[in-house]
Amino acid sequence: MSDLAVRIQQPGGPEQMQLVPVEVGEPGPGELRIRHVAVGLNYIDVYHRNGVYPLPMPAGIGMEAAGFVEAVGEGVTHLKPGDRAAYASQPPGAYCTARVMPARCVVRLPDEISFETGAGMMLKGLTAQYLLRRTLPQGGLHAGDFVLFHAAAGGVGLIACQWARLLGLRLIGTAGSDEKCQLALDAGATHVINYRREDFAARVREITEGRGVKVVYDSVGADTWAGSLDSLAPFGLMASFGNASGVVPPVALGTLAAKGSLYLTRPTLFTHLATRESTQAMADELIEVVKSGAVRIHVDQRYPLAEVARAHRDLEARSTTGSGVLLV
Ligand SMILES: NC(=O)c1ccc[n+]([C@@H]2O[C@H](COP(=O)([O-])OP(=O)(O)OC[C@H]3O[C@@H](n4cnc5c(N)ncnc54)[C@H](OP(=O)(O)O)[C@@H]3O)[C@@H](O)[C@H]2O)c1
Repeated sequence: MSDLAVRIQQPGGPEQMQLVPVEVGEPGPGELRIRHVAVGLNYIDVYHRNGVYPLPMPAGIGMEAAGFVEAVGEGVTHLKPGDRAAYASQPPGAYCTARVMPARCVVRLPDEISFETGAGMMLKGLTAQYLLRRTLPQGGLHAGDFVLFHAAAGGVGLIACQWARLLGLRLIGTAGSDEKCQLALDAGATHVINYRREDFAARVREITEGRGVKVVYDSVGADTWAGSLDSLAPFGLMASFGNASGVVPPVALGTLAAKGSLYLTRPTLFTHLATRESTQAMADELIEVVKSGAVRIHVDQRYPLAEVARAHRDLEARSTTGSGVLLV
């Protein structure tokens, strides 16, 4: 049987994703061939599909998966055929049964971690890692500090809640329903706000007794931008790392002065994954917190690869929680 991969011919709705037969060749230098068992679903896949993040067309899609290494190319020494492995990696193309890809961002998956968990944790968990451990305000973050984390019951969100608890941070989580708020609370948020019903910036001021938070981790984008700035303490850090509700419009820099000499960053995981050493160091931390049980990966949605369009509809309808995977 030939291999299958999802391809898009042009940006658009979920119906643009077509599962087609493909020939998967041999890995070249620095590459490997991996056979997937589970593929991670991420909101970035929606941006790739709908053109918010443009891709050269036709394009593959998907950036996270777990499976078995089948073959390695010249110069690849950290993995060998037969190894269990998982990755978050460029270029898009993970929605498939098997692929040839750069080996740099692929790491060994310990036997204790299932393929579903591996596929549900790499992109989202490495993101939570670089946000909470590397995207820090002046002076760093310390136990007891308040941070605000939007979409706290989502894939990145539920991991961040647990990791923040481990670090002793007081994470105020927002989410779009009371049920989602409860999930975030159970995962380690110290406070939750249903931002569909409540003015979250006003609630943050109440919770922090007027002081505001040291960092806002904002992946919602357009809808939360203004309220996020209003939630920050002076010299606070606005980490805008996504745009699920729409892209943030151009910013007048003077706003940052007026709101209290704020810092602003627009980070992406893939800068952090630029080298194998950095990827492995981040993955080691993630694997450790998952193996210890401090962070549990909530794989709350499972779909056959052929039902990828339904998976995207659910993501965009805000009806998912935690991580979702495509089963190959
Ligand atoms: N820059 C980076 O390095 C990086 C890396 C990974 C992920 N991200 C970003 O982080 C975010 C979370 O990623 P994820 O894959 O874990 O997704 P997710 O959080 O599981 O799903 C997105 C969530 O955003 C919330 N949301 C708010 N307004 C929305 C709207 N208008 N439409 C759709 N969703 C809306 C929804 O939660 P509520 O119903 O609770 O509001 C939804 O469940 C995404 O924006 C993603 O692009 C960025």
